[in-house]
Amino acid sequence: MSNTNLKIGIILGSTRQGRVSPQVGEWVKGIADSQGEGIFEIVDIAEYKLPFLGEETENEAGIVNWREKIDSLDGFVFIVQEYNHSITAALKNALDHARAEWNNKAAGIVSYGGAGGTRAAEHLRGILGELMVADVRVHPTLSLFTDFVNGSEFKPADYQQQNIEAMLSQIDAWSGALYTIRKPVARV
Ligand SMILES: Cc1cc2nc3c(=O)[nH]c(=O)nc-3n(C[C@H](O)[C@H](O)[C@H](O)COP(=O)(O)O)c2cc1C
Repeated sequence: MSNTNLKIGIILGSTRQGRVSPQVGEWVKGIADSQGEGIFEIVDIAEYKLPFLGEETENEAGIVNWREKIDSLDGFVFIVQEYNHSITAALKNALDHARAEWNNKAAGIVSYGGAGGTRAAEHLRGILGELMVADVRVHPTLSLFTDFVNGSEFKPADYQQQNIEAMLSQIDAWSGALYTIRKPVARV
């Protein structure tokens, strides 16, 4: 597989009504699509209606669909918002609902919050290590004060685009490399 065909999911980490994460996710997708490396799609946790882990009925459709979606992807961009100095409960629950499906893939983190969402992003890095997701170094941080109007309308500073492009390049390189150890026979 050439890197052009790698499938990268842009995972929206928040599910609350009135969330700003779709604005951030669409912006990242726009930049990614214009770079022309990889096939990008928004993955909205809210659409899967995941129950809390351990409270599910057997073969619950949302969980099956979630695992299939994660399995189908070669890499990820996590759109991470800081909730009480960590990631959302919705994102942690979604991460816990799959295991092997995450393994040996690459990811970047785009975070936001009063302090750029950095505390949440660092928590996520620890979790990704356990899931064998290789998180890249470049980490765009968006400020609720300077990259949003009134904390709700997304208006990123111009320089943020360069950060996104640098992160996407690293995801592209590592996703391609990790593909070779995951599905070596299918690689063309
Ligand atoms: C329960 C909760 C806890 C929050 N805790 C923090 C925090 O610790 N640090 C911070 O910078 N922002 C915090 N915020 C502000 C969020 O980062 C901000 O509302 C952001 O827009 C949430 O992302 P979303 O709109 O995509 O859900 C918190 C928001 C909520 C709802």
